[in-house]
Amino acid sequence: MPIHLLQIAKKLAHDAGKLALKYQEKGFSISTKSSPIDLVTEADKACEELILKTIRAHFPDHSILSEESPAIEQSGDYKWIVDPIDGTGNFAHGLPFYAISIAIVHKGKPIIGVVEIPALKETFWAQEGRGAYLGNKQIHVSKRDKLQQSMFATGFPYARESDRYRKNIELFDAFYKASNGVRRFGSAAIDLCFTAAGRFDGFWEYALKPWDIAAGKIIMEEAGGMVTNMDGSLFNHKLENILASNGLLHSEMLRVIKEHGADKV
Ligand code: IPD
Ligand code: CA
Ligand code: CA
Repeated sequence: MPIHLLQIAKKLAHDAGKLALKYQEKGFSISTKSSPIDLVTEADKACEELILKTIRAHFPDHSILSEESPAIEQSGDYKWIVDPIDGTGNFAHGLPFYAISIAIVHKGKPIIGVVEIPALKETFWAQEGRGAYLGNKQIHVSKRDKLQQSMFATGFPYARESDRYRKNIELFDAFYKASNGVRRFGSAAIDLCFTAAGRFDGFWEYALKPWDIAAGKIIMEEAGGMVTNMDGSLFNHKLENILASNGLLHSEMLRVIKEHGADKV
């Protein structure tokens, strides 16, 4: 196992987190992307540059997929998947729920995930076959097996006229009524890590990109959780939708999703 890659991913996430906190203090410019609500800040770009320049310098044959830059395809077996700030809307409003998300994939298989939440001083990480951790403490998904006692998380796509958006409003209502509560924190990476740590019992969302979930997915699975597409099939980034749970609630969650015709949207 390439331990040094884990240490480098952790250091990069930590350093980018420190940089994000500095921007929170000194202020930053904000611009828009696909729509007026899809934001990117000066800090997103600075954090990305900090991470990418180290990867390029130390691992010139590694591929990189990072949200704010063109993808780099190289000949080596490793690929880094980076979201320099997941939860940019929160970051722009001074809310603490934003994270730096870094995953490393080897020959197509995710092997390392690191999610740093600088404002909460929390680092979630996992390495294939070694479990998932919050700092030095191993984490596990919850043991709740009843919807009514469970707390869920979801998120909504920026495209607010889409079928997926409307369907998720319906699903939010259904899960809200069937459970102890549903939260919308605004960072898919954090939602996955909080589910991995048993704070949430399950999470679902449509229209996500690989950089939103690559690190969180391996952290979830190493914490004993289950991750599939929203129709219950083997997870596939191309469908862009995700259902993550403690495993015990997975079939009940799928039942609710199917009942609302939300599995194939
Ligand atoms: C977003 C967050 C959010 C999710 C959006 C993502 P960004 O990422 O993960 O929770 O609902 O779909 O795009 O834009 O803050 O990196
Ligand atoms: Ca993101
Ligand atoms: Ca982002």
